[in-house]
Amino acid sequence: MNITVIGTGYVGLVSGICYAELGHHVVCVDKDLSKVEILRNGGIPIYEPGLQELSAKNTAAGRLSFTGDLRQAVGQADIVIIAVGTPSLPNGEANLSYIDQAAVEIAQAMNGYKIIAVKSTVPVGTNERVANLIRSWTSERFDSISLPEFLREGSAVQDTLHPDRIVIGADSQEAADTMAELHKPLTDQIVVTDIRSAEMLKYASNAFLATKISFINEIANICEKVGADVTRVAEGMGYDKRIGHAFLKAGIGYGGSCFPKDTRALIQIAGNVDYEFKLLRAVVEVNQDQRMSVIRKLETIFDGELSGKTIAVWGLAFKPNTDDVRESPAVEIIQYLVRSGARVKAYDPIAMQNFKTMHGDNGVMWCDDALEAATGADALCLLTEWEEFVRVDLGQLQSLLRKPILIDGRNVFKEEDLADTAFIYFSIGRPRLNQGIKEEMSALNG
Ligand code: UDX
Repeated sequence: MNITVIGTGYVGLVSGICYAELGHHVVCVDKDLSKVEILRNGGIPIYEPGLQELSAKNTAAGRLSFTGDLRQAVGQADIVIIAVGTPSLPNGEANLSYIDQAAVEIAQAMNGYKIIAVKSTVPVGTNERVANLIRSWTSERFDSISLPEFLREGSAVQDTLHPDRIVIGADSQEAADTMAELHKPLTDQIVVTDIRSAEMLKYASNAFLATKISFINEIANICEKVGADVTRVAEGMGYDKRIGHAFLKAGIGYGGSCFPKDTRALIQIAGNVDYEFKLLRAVVEVNQDQRMSVIRKLETIFDGELSGKTIAVWGLAFKPNTDDVRESPAVEIIQYLVRSGARVKAYDPIAMQNFKTMHGDNGVMWCDDALEAATGADALCLLTEWEEFVRVDLGQLQSLLRKPILIDGRNVFKEEDLADTAFIYFSIGRPRLNQGIKEEMSALNG
């Protein structure tokens, strides 16, 4: 099939390259010609393991190309996939202006029947809006498909080539069958629904996963007070098949380009039909507050006085294996530390440049490696569970810090890892590891 993908962000680029990998002819379109140039030269504008190799392979095979010329790309397509961004408006609603723009441009380029699928995460009713918009510009026949995307950054290629399920929202059986055929090599689990249900399904899935995270984070906060260990609680809970192990890792809350945006959007979608989604509001609030748990711990340690302290920060990305810092907990934590007069030394294996571009220098001291960031610091906060942090030599780390204080926002270290060290160690929801902290702190301070 000839497939044209509009938008070369995470979703568009990964999907386009993977459709080419399945043997289809794919053209990826972007308005940003500098991005098109990078892609044509074999580069990838995002960090995503495995994507560059797959792009090079399929470009060389003549199945994959990149262009800024939407009209021509749509003209030769059987299937057009819209994968442009839907960023948050200030009120939390999804901004659909890129979708509308793409719809009009597709309509103007129509030259016969096509399937037009929306892969961007869009509020219920958007596919109808797109269809109406296209109809107002052209009399060519087309079918609308809602094709929600569930890929995760950092494992996007794997998730796309081996999805848990494919969801196809359609109001035409023929178009649904064509889309099912296209995705059949990926999975047997193809769920065909009406268009509105498919649109809702994406938001519901993300909201549910975000709920699991906020739930376990609140359990962690209670664990700290009652003396239980959240990692053992989550492990035991997870063996219940109805609960499952996934997304029960307590930490400093979720970030990234999807959960924060989509939870806010779903609250708005509900609000627009006079329904208050109370549970999801609480999920968002808990997530916001959870970021501050690192700060609260630091304030306890330093008697509320962070000014003049040197704090090392390990990890800026919202999760490992990505350079994405959008809505990363590190942003607010660092801003708070800087506002409080602390001297921040930060390091991330690949997200530092993105952080600086998006959030400015902030007076942060950027370090070339993890140990350099830790050297001379009064405390170290681990905010992203990068493999290189997990593997660090704790003995060496301890000797470099001015005070051996480690706040592990992702629970990466185990009790036995710390056994031979003198670390004063705080984690999330594991009070046993923090036993005797008060005595250790007063010994250290006095
Ligand atoms: C998410 C969804 O998983 C994906 O299906 C959707 O298409 C886009 O949004 P992504 O944002 O790439 O993907 O990352 P994910 O791996 O889901 O993690 C999201 C956030 O939740 C990260 O900040 C992560 O650190 C946090 N998280 C995840 C936890 O705090 N605890 C967990 O147990 C799992």
